Amino acid sequence: MTQQAGATAVAHTNIALIKYWGKADPVLNLPTTSSLSLTLKKYYTKTQVEEADVDSLLINELPQDAKRVHEFLNILREEVQDFPPLRIISTNKVPISAGLASSASSFAALTAAVAKFNNWQLSLEDLSRLARRGSGSATRSFFPDFAIWEKGHDDASSYATHFDTPDMPIALVVCKISGLVKKVSSTEGMRRAQTSPNYAAWVEESARQLVNMEDALKKADIKRVGEIAEANALGMHNLNLTAKDQRFTYFNAQTMQILDEVKALRQAGYTAYATMDAGPNVKIITTLNEANAIKESLAKRFLKIQFDIATPGPGISYE
Ligand code: PMV
Repeated sequence: MTQQAGATAVAHTNIALIKYWGKADPVLNLPTTSSLSLTLKKYYTKTQVEEADVDSLLINELPQDAKRVHEFLNILREEVQDFPPLRIISTNKVPISAGLASSASSFAALTAAVAKFNNWQLSLEDLSRLARRGSGSATRSFFPDFAIWEKGHDDASSYATHFDTPDMPIALVVCKISGLVKKVSSTEGMRRAQTSPNYAAWVEESARQLVNMEDALKKADIKRVGEIAEANALGMHNLNLTAKDQRFTYFNAQTMQILDEVKALRQAGYTAYATMDAGPNVKIITTLNEANAIKESLAKRFLKIQFDIATPGPGISYE
């Protein structure tokens, strides 16, 4: 197959409403649970690839250690077809400090750009399956709005698909608490979480929550979506605290203060539910109508925290 001189793809990041937090197979990145996410319009990665002498990586014009992407490109060379070394030029519009998974949009954009560069005719599901090898959450960044990553049982059966819902005015208030790089990587965090005595129960509960979440989304019931997402996220973070091997938490004092505030907002009648990932930042699930009032009320109390409003975003695109 002939290669293009260069190829560019854009992928948006996603926030998990039902989390991926544990690997059944750490080499293939097969998860212990299925997960479900919302793609976000505001945060994305644009990646261009072009032929070079060695695999290299530039993010926002700064050269980076290319080890992880080089290993990932070698998986694509082996799994799909060989191709020459690539210079990867990425523009990342996912603020690392937002605690949003920049690896999700990065590996999705890279997989799509490499496929375009090589003229591979692959479905979105095939791209999702390949991107999984770079980062699990990247499986879900090919689709607009909502995506489900079915855990599957082997390499062929573990990938994400679009989850169709009626239109709904869902929004996130993103609280950017910390700009520090996370202390425990998601891979290490998952390994520790899996030593919690509560792990098996969380896996079972997560399967029930996924069924309930699908139902709530089909009914565009944002309150119930928030309730289930918050319970799932708190369950995930409970595993970190109860790990038998090196228990830990991603939360800090401000995470706890915002969680209290979210509860107070609910008591005041707002739609407000929290979800947290591998970092201290809180993302508040709400409606488009209420997002600004929530943002303003929090901004008055937390002067050092930055707040963003994020809305549903598009699937993968090419330039
Ligand atoms: O894609 P990874 O390996 O960085 O893991 C992401 C894990 C969470 O963001 C915490 C949850 C998720 O499902 O995205």
